[in-house]
Order: sequence, then C-alpha cells, then structure tokens
Amino acid sequence: MARAEAPRGRITRGTTNVNRLRRVDRWIAAQPVIRTADDPLVVDLGYGASATTTLELRDRLAAARPDVKVVGIEIDPQRVRAANAATRDGVEFRLGGFEVPLPGNRAAAVIRALNVLRQYDETEVADAWATMCGRLQPGGLLVEGTCDEIGRIASWVGLELAGPRTLTISLRLAGLETPSIVAERLPKALIHRNVAGERIHELLGALDRLWATHAPLGVYGPTQRWLAVVASLREAGWPVRGTRARWRLGELTVDWDAVAPG
Ligand SMILES: C[S@@+](CC[C@H](N)C(=O)[O-])C[C@H]1O[C@@H](n2cnc3c(N)ncnc32)[C@H](O)[C@@H]1O
Repeated sequence: MARAEAPRGRITRGTTNVNRLRRVDRWIAAQPVIRTADDPLVVDLGYGASATTTLELRDRLAAARPDVKVVGIEIDPQRVRAANAATRDGVEFRLGGFEVPLPGNRAAAVIRALNVLRQYDETEVADAWATMCGRLQPGGLLVEGTCDEIGRIASWVGLELAGPRTLTISLRLAGLETPSIVAERLPKALIHRNVAGERIHELLGALDRLWATHAPLGVYGPTQRWLAVVASLREAGWPVRGTRARWRLGELTVDWDAVAPG
C-alpha cells in the first residue's frame, strides 16, 4: 500500500478569532467561481486553534452557493481532533499541509489560506503558492493573505493555477487614519517589500497622499472619502479592478503585476 505523503509545512501558532476573516470571506463569496464551479469544494487551509473561521466560511459561502462543501485542513493533529468534535453538515476537517489532501483526490474550487504564510519565511512563499495552486480546479482560486486580530485591516493575494493575479486591501474606514496601516498586514510576499523602489511602497504612498487630499470629503463620511481615493488612483493609471459596490466596503483590488516585488 502506498504511504500517505507527509504534510508539507510546519505547525505554527494557532491564533484565530471569531469573525476576523469576514472581509476576505465577503470577497470570496462574490467571486464568480463560487457560483460557476461544477464541484463547489472549498478548502480552509490552516484554520488554527479553533474551527470557528472554517464554520463561518461555510455559512457565508452557503448564502451564495447552498451546496458548498468546506474542508478545513490543519497540519496540527490535535487541532484536527478538536475541530472534528465541532463538525457539522457541509464541513469536514482533515490533517494535511500545502499539498491539500482532499477526498478522492478531488481538486478545490477555492483555497483560503489566511494568516498561515505570515509565520513562514519570504523565501518559502513561491513554493507554497505553487503547491497549493496545483490543487485547484481549472478556474479555481487561491486566496492567501493576512489580517489583524479583529479583522479591521486585511490584505490578500488572489492566485489562479498559473500564479498571482490580484492584490486586495480591505480596511475598516471608520476611524481610519492612513491607508498605509495595512503595511503591517501585507501578505508575506509583500510585507518586507514596503521600501523605496518597490511598487507596493509606491501604492501605499499614493493611497496616503490621496487620503489626505480628499480629507474634506470626510464631512460626508469616510466612504465618500475612500471612493474619491480609489477613483483618483485609477485616474492616475493604477490598474484598479472592481466597481463602486466593492470600493464602498473599504476594498481596493489592483492587478498583481502593478505591485509584484521587483
Ligand atoms: C495563525 S493560525 C491562522 C488561523 C486562521 N486561518 C485565522 O486566520 O484566524 C495559522 C495556522 O496554520 C497552521 N498551518 C501552518 N502551516 C500549515 C500548513 N502548511 N498546512 C496546514 N496548516 C498549516 C498552523 O498550525 C496554525 O494552526
């Protein structure tokens, strides 16, 4: 009998929190693949010390795609045992790593890996991305990123089989001082690149300048101010994706090529 592959990766801190991934879940739920996938199998890779965010992901996606199945994958066997005690319809938990083991060797429509690579080295990112992307269905999506403890500051990379496509920043606008607060919560591939000469540094600088420029619109609320920032960014030539409906949420999505490390 063939021996199962050892999970790829290593156990890291299991910090998680109720509702902290709401911003990324809301974005995933709006991606076309959620509605169009023939096999709506979604993976939550590295769910941490409790199964909470996996169960939340299932509930949020089921609103858009009622037959969605979510598989939580963790590299820590104790966390898999604990999660299995909390399982329910539409969700299962498995031991594994970046190789993304799935029942019947099926592939995933979406893999969400949030706050996982943060505890790895920057040099490990490309291999982890390639391994996870290799487990996607055609048209599938890997969402890899980071957020703060309570989910008010988040950013993630959207990847397809062929590699990274987008960077999304999502911020709570109420009380926001400067958009570059996201610098502390960038995906691992970018967090060490927020230095002069790198495009992510240019983007965060442009966001801060425009946030200051449009400060007078704050009298109409932070959403109006943010909408003006995103519109100005687009006019300045940044490849901004999406519509006002997304920007109103405090989101900004740009093409990955515009911010990829030099
Ligand atoms: C900080 S927790 C993140 C929990 C949750 N995703 C969140 O954002 O709230 C990171 C978890 O990822 C797990 N992990 C790290 N590397 C992994 C890998 N290669 N495969 C599966 N799980 C992994 C760790 O054991 C840890 O429980």
